[in-house]
Amino acid sequence: MSSPTRVGVLLSGRGSNFLALHAATRDGRLPEVEIVQVLSNVEDAPGLEAARRLGLAAKAIPHRGVKRREHDRLMVAALREAEVEWVCLAGYMRLLTSYFVEAYSRRMLNIHPSLLPAFPGLSAQRQAWDYGVSVSGCTVHLVDEAMDSGPIVAQAAVDISDCAGPREVADRILEQEHRLYPQALSDVIRRRWSIQGRRLTFSS
Ligand code: GRF
Repeated sequence: MSSPTRVGVLLSGRGSNFLALHAATRDGRLPEVEIVQVLSNVEDAPGLEAARRLGLAAKAIPHRGVKRREHDRLMVAALREAEVEWVCLAGYMRLLTSYFVEAYSRRMLNIHPSLLPAFPGLSAQRQAWDYGVSVSGCTVHLVDEAMDSGPIVAQAAVDISDCAGPREVADRILEQEHRLYPQALSDVIRRRWSIQGRRLTFSS
């Protein structure tokens, strides 16, 4: 097998999607990936601590008091230093500048807890609950400069019709996020794909 693809994960919080990706690299679902760098804009992000406990390179690059573009430059420099080839955003709560998006153009994924384009932005699970939909889900997409935009790689629908509240919606969707993200990352790395307009199509 050729050497694994070097992946960097960016997170701002608890990092359960990062842990799901990491678990998949170790249990045979994602053997083609090595997570070589975890970065956060939040110094005390639990996900960063979890990465350190796993023995991974994990670093905080705080954004406070730093211009957005300059912060992105520091992030990209750290990713390049670690020779990161693909980036996975996993609860990274920052909009990226064009500088960052161009640096990892078509080599950066995000996961969002709704069936995009429904409910972009914050608290997507609560938005779905408040709207009263009976089906929501999660989306893995390539990252572009707009929020929760970019061509869709994979989606999973989740029946939320019998949920008791937004927390149960979030839990149910999160379970699918943990399954979908490793699968989608594996697909974009191993399979051939192309983009026409917004549509990403796998051809192998
Ligand atoms: C997830 O719901 C993800 O879809 C969204 O942010 C949340 C991050 O959760 N982008 P975690 O930090 O991965 O547990």
